[in-house]
Amino acid sequence: IGRQVIYFAQTDSTNLRAHELGKSGAPEGTVVLADSQTAGKGRLGRRWSSPAGVNLYASVLVRPPVAPRHASQLTFLSAAAVARTVAETASLPVSVKWPNDVLVAGRKIAGLLNELDAETERIHYLVLGIGVNLNMTADQFPEDLRYPATSMLLATGRSVSRIDFTRCLLRHLDVLYELYLTQGFVPVLEAWMSYFDLIGRAVEVDYHDRRVVGTVAGLDDDGALLLVLGDGSRERVLAGDVRPLK
Ligand code: BTN
Repeated sequence: IGRQVIYFAQTDSTNLRAHELGKSGAPEGTVVLADSQTAGKGRLGRRWSSPAGVNLYASVLVRPPVAPRHASQLTFLSAAAVARTVAETASLPVSVKWPNDVLVAGRKIAGLLNELDAETERIHYLVLGIGVNLNMTADQFPEDLRYPATSMLLATGRSVSRIDFTRCLLRHLDVLYELYLTQGFVPVLEAWMSYFDLIGRAVEVDYHDRRVVGTVAGLDDDGALLLVLGDGSRERVLAGDVRPLK
C-alpha cells in the first residue's frame, strides 16, 4: 500500500478520484491524497469538512479477493490502522467506536468512508476513505456536528507533521492488509478489538428505526455487534449507531 501515491493540492473528493482509478484498472494499493477537498464526503450523504493545510484526507484503492459481503471487514482494518497511528504519534487514550470511527477521549478524531464496486460474487475494487483531524483548531470545525470532535492538535496541544503521520498510517495499513490477505479477518479484528472499550458495557443501539438496549457480548466473524438483551436473548446488529449508557 502506498507504492503509488497521487497527490492533489485540491480536489472535490479523494474517494471520487480513487473510484476513477479503480475503474481504469490502477493497481491495488494506489493512494490518493489531497491537501483540501471541495466536496469531502461523509457517511450517510453528509459532508466532510476539509479545510486546506491542516488535516489528512486519503483514499486507498484495494482489490481484496473476498466476496462483497465481507467488504465491511476492511472498515475495521482502516480503523485499526488509524488507531495504531494515533497511539504511536502521541500517548493519547484512543478508542474505536463500532463500526467505523476513531475517538480520542471520547471525541471523534477520524472518519472512515469505504465504498464498494462489486458484482454479486466478486469485488472489483474497494475505496478506503480516511479523514483524520490533525492540526484543525476549534474554530475550523463545522457548527452542526452530530458527535463531539477533536484533532491531534486539540488533544495534545502540539501540531503533528502531516507527512510523518501519513507515512505512519500507510505503514500500518500495509501491515494490516498483508495480515488480512495471508491470515484473514481474525487478526485484523483482534487489532481493532484492542481499542474497543465497550465489551461488557450496557449500550443503546439505534438501527432499522428501532432502539434496543443490551450488553455488548462481542463481535462475530463479520464484525457484527453481538448484544445480550434484558430478557437474555441475543441480538446481532450489522449496522447502527451505538451509545454507551452511563
Ligand atoms: C464519516 O462520515 O465519518 C466519514 C468521513 C470520511 C472522510 C474521508 S476524507 C478522505 C475521503 N474522501 C472523502 O470525500 N471522504 C473520505
